[in-house]
Amino acid sequence: SEEQPLAGTSLLLTAGPTREALDPVRYLSNHSSGKMGFAIAEQAQRLGAKVTLVAGPVSLPTPAGVTRIDVESAQQMLDAVMAQVEEHQLFIGCAAVADYRPIAVADNKIKKSAESMMVEMVRNPDILATVAAHSKRPFTVGFAAETQDVAHYAMDKLKRKNLDMIAANDVSKPEQGFNADSNALTLYWDGGSQALGYSGKSDQAKQLLLAIAKRL
Ligand code: C5P
Repeated sequence: SEEQPLAGTSLLLTAGPTREALDPVRYLSNHSSGKMGFAIAEQAQRLGAKVTLVAGPVSLPTPAGVTRIDVESAQQMLDAVMAQVEEHQLFIGCAAVADYRPIAVADNKIKKSAESMMVEMVRNPDILATVAAHSKRPFTVGFAAETQDVAHYAMDKLKRKNLDMIAANDVSKPEQGFNADSNALTLYWDGGSQALGYSGKSDQAKQLLLAIAKRL
């Protein structure tokens, strides 16, 4: 309908950072707040979708009517997503997944001794690309946070990860992207693009979902 263009569809999305354990008391992570992903979850529910939100550790309340699955590491996020993916028609990867994790988690707290230490890291799985490569793939949307040549890198990511749409933001600009309350996304798909202008994350989320609804 006019008000609920996502009625009858189901959205699976990831949001927030991941934590990659170093030992039982330490981890590596990033500054993702989860605000964009949680705004998408809230708006999608309002637009009529059934929403499953796979969230890394964030301090945000669960939007009304949204099913939330909390995870910590990239591997846990991948497992939660792949267990759910066939039940959903739409996937949006909004999480700031750690690119690498420590190759081994120490059994006990690492003690300080030498003046320097090495931590060997191994690549994490790419959750978005794994979803896009799945035989029963949903309509798959990714994010691209870039500091230069935003359009070029976004288009490259769209093709390389086999996505249906990508939402790009220039994180070199202050007051948008990571941790901010506003954003200025540009959407790219095969054969088109749309700049959403600068607005609050709820408005960006709604515009993104309306653009997706037109192409689902
Ligand atoms: O390659 P890059 O990290 O810039 O891609 C960003 C997009 O890929 C985001 O949509 C992010 O959620 C997703 N991603 C992922 N798993 C990773 C890395 C990124 O799902 N390991």
